[in-house]
Amino acid sequence: MTATVVARSRDELAAARTQLRGRLAVVMTMGALHEGHAQLVRAARAQADAVVVTIFLNPLQFAAGEDLDRYPKTFETDLAICTREGVDLVFAPTPDVIYPNGEPDVRVAAGRLGDRLEGEHRPGHFDGVLTVVAKLLHLTAPDLAYFGEKDAQQLALISQMVRDLDFPVDVVAVPTVREEGGLALSSRNTYLTDSDRSAARSLNRALQAGVGAAAEGAAGTLAAAAAVLEAEPALSVDYLALVDDDTWEDAGAGTAKGRLLVAARVGTTRLIDNVSVTFAETGGRSTSAPDVG
Ligand code: PAF
Repeated sequence: MTATVVARSRDELAAARTQLRGRLAVVMTMGALHEGHAQLVRAARAQADAVVVTIFLNPLQFAAGEDLDRYPKTFETDLAICTREGVDLVFAPTPDVIYPNGEPDVRVAAGRLGDRLEGEHRPGHFDGVLTVVAKLLHLTAPDLAYFGEKDAQQLALISQMVRDLDFPVDVVAVPTVREEGGLALSSRNTYLTDSDRSAARSLNRALQAGVGAAAEGAAGTLAAAAAVLEAEPALSVDYLALVDDDTWEDAGAGTAKGRLLVAARVGTTRLIDNVSVTFAETGGRSTSAPDVG
């Protein structure tokens, strides 16, 4: 197993970057790596000649009162996972490396989609995400960038930024990885107590109920998912929404492929999840995109 090179500064990154040959893929993370991140790396390795993983807990995308301070920090384990998965280079800067002049005044504006759903509950969050993603794309200069479908709105916004601002990179989506019982893997799952975890499984159960009711159209899909969420008193739901997977407008009669999204708090933890819903009939049944796990 070849040891993964670690770069902490911009100079170290630039020097290590020049050693990497062929098509480069980047996987951006905030650390606390899990099997979902490993799947991103595996997808990247399958298509690229070299892989860089960034590990940076980006303060710009956390509002006051959110979980920046308690976000799990597991650098040694993260590095071991990167080495095991054959990652060539880890870029693990501190905030002063990424923001040498403090928090930037000029940021990427996430636009209308950035204010909806997650953006409505976390104002400014997506401006912070897109700003750091833009900077990390500039610094790592990859050909390919891999992001998980679990953060579907983030993935849509990054793809839109890349299109709208002409970043020379291909964005690749990787399916959500789930633990047994359906809970989507997330670094934040480490906050869950046993009873939180059992309540949290209702998120995926609700999404699957929505998929199962797709033959009844958008309203039936939402109603079926809502019924499962309402039956779990330990959940406090921020939103349940069904959007057109292409436009991200509310799904309606003309929607062939939708995305059913949910965000909820359980205990002190806020979780999000989503699933693709196909409304066009396939052999009399509606289907969802396959998740890994
Ligand atoms: O999805 C994440 O972990 C973060 O939002 C990202 C893309 C690494 C930006 O900080």
